Amino acid sequence: MASRGGFSSKIGFIAAAAGSAVGLGNIWKFPFEVANGGGAAFVVIYLAFCFILCFPVMVAEIAIGRKTQKNPSGAFAALGFPKWSFVGKLGIIAGILILSFYNVVAGWAFGYVIEMFMGRFEVAANFGDYIANVVKIGSYAIVFMAVTAFIVSKGVSAGIEKLSTILMPTLIIMIVGLAIYAMTLPHAMDGLKFYLIPDFSQLTPKVMYAALGQAFFSLSLGMGALITYGSYVSKNDNIISSAALITLTDVGIAVLAGLMMFPFVAFKHSGDLASIEGGAGFIFTTLPAAFESIGAGGAIVGGLFFLLLSFAALTSTVSLLEVPVAYVVDEHGVKRKRAVIGVALLVFIIGIPSLLGNGYLEFLTKFISWYEDQELVSKTFMDFVEVLASDTFLPLGGFMISFFVGWIWKKANLDEELAQGNPNYKGSFVQKYLNFAITYLAPTVLGILFLLTVLSKTIGFELFG
Ligand code: TRP
Repeated sequence: MASRGGFSSKIGFIAAAAGSAVGLGNIWKFPFEVANGGGAAFVVIYLAFCFILCFPVMVAEIAIGRKTQKNPSGAFAALGFPKWSFVGKLGIIAGILILSFYNVVAGWAFGYVIEMFMGRFEVAANFGDYIANVVKIGSYAIVFMAVTAFIVSKGVSAGIEKLSTILMPTLIIMIVGLAIYAMTLPHAMDGLKFYLIPDFSQLTPKVMYAALGQAFFSLSLGMGALITYGSYVSKNDNIISSAALITLTDVGIAVLAGLMMFPFVAFKHSGDLASIEGGAGFIFTTLPAAFESIGAGGAIVGGLFFLLLSFAALTSTVSLLEVPVAYVVDEHGVKRKRAVIGVALLVFIIGIPSLLGNGYLEFLTKFISWYEDQELVSKTFMDFVEVLASDTFLPLGGFMISFFVGWIWKKANLDEELAQGNPNYKGSFVQKYLNFAITYLAPTVLGILFLLTVLSKTIGFELFG
C-alpha cells in the first residue's frame, strides 16, 4: 500500500476533502443558483439536501474508499461486486466532464486576479468580451491545468494536503472580512432579506433539482471523489466526525459567501433584487463594483480575493484530476506522472468547446435548448455539460452508491467499517439514521428526483406544474 500514498493525519484528510468541497461551487456557483432559484427558498432546500441526504452519501463514499483502498471503479470490484464498477466508471466520466468546464471558469477567476490588481474594474461591464477572448482565457486555463497537474503528480500528502491546510483558513478570513464590509454598504438589508427570508412560492421543481445538483456538486459527491480520498484515510480515523466537519465547513463557506454576495448585489442594483438574474457571470459582474467602492485599497482587496478564490478552485481541480489519475494508476498500472499528463491533456481538450462557447463560436454559445419551468431556454455548451454532469450524473451516482451500500454491500458491512475508529458508533442514533438514510431515504428521493429531472428537461413534463 505504501506506493499509493496516504494522508499523514486526520486533519490532513479533512483539510484535503474540505479543500475539494470548497471551491468555485461555493463562491461562484452557489450565489448564482440562489439568485436563479429566487433567494432564500433555494437556500433552505439546499441546506436540507446537504444535511439529510448528502451527508449519509458522503459517509458511504468514504467508507467504501477506506475499506477497499481503491479508486471508484476498482472499489466495487474489491468489495466483490465487479459488475458494479460501472458506477465508479460513470463517476470518473462525470469528474472528467466537470473538470473540463470547471477549469475554464477557474481560468476566468485566475484572469481576474490580474484585472483587479491592475484596477481594471470595468472588466465587469465588458464581461462578455472578457470570456469571449479565447486566447487570453485559454492561456489562463492552460496555466491552471498545468498547476493542477503538477500538484497531483506530487502525490497525496506532499501536494494536496499541504496546500489545503494553509489556504483554506486564509480564504475564510477574507470572506468574513468582506461580508462585514458588505453589511455597511447602502441597501445591504435588501440583499440580506432576499437571501435569508424564504418565499416558498419561488419553490418550483426547477429550483428543487438545481438545489440537489448544487448540494452534490458543492460537497464533491456522487462521482467517487470521496471514495478516492477515503482510500487514503487511516483505519484509526473516525469517518463520521470527519464527514460532519467536511459538510459543515463546505456549507458554512457557501452560506458565508452568500452573506458577502447579496449585500454587494443589492448595492449594485440599488436594492432591487426582484429582477436579478444569476448566470455564470454573476460574481464576475457584481464584485468589481463592490471592490471599486472600497476606494484606494480596492484593487488590492479585489486581487487578493480572486487569488484566494483561484486557490480554492485549485484544491478542487486537484481532487477532480486525482480521481481519473488514481483509476489509471491502480487499474492500468501506469506511472503516476504519466497518468497525470495524459489525463490532464485529455480533460483540457474536452474543455475546449466550453471555452469557445462563451460568445466566440455562435453554435457552441447557443448550443442547446431545454425546458425550465416549462419554458424553452437556450443554453451554452458549458451550461449543457454542467447540467449533464453535475445536476444529472452526480445525483444519479449518489442514488446508485446509496442503493449499492444499502442493498448489495449491506448495511452490516457499512456499520463494521464505520465502527473502526469510532467505538461509540454501534447502537448510536447516528447509526440508526445512517442505516435508514442509505437504505431507504436516499435511494427513494434521489431516484424520484432523477426521473423527474430527466422528464422535465427533455419533454417539459412537471409533476407539480
Ligand atoms: N466541490 C467543488 C466545488 O464546490 C467541485 C468539485 C471538486 C467536485 N471535486 C468534485 C464536484 C467532485 C463534484 C465531484 O467547487
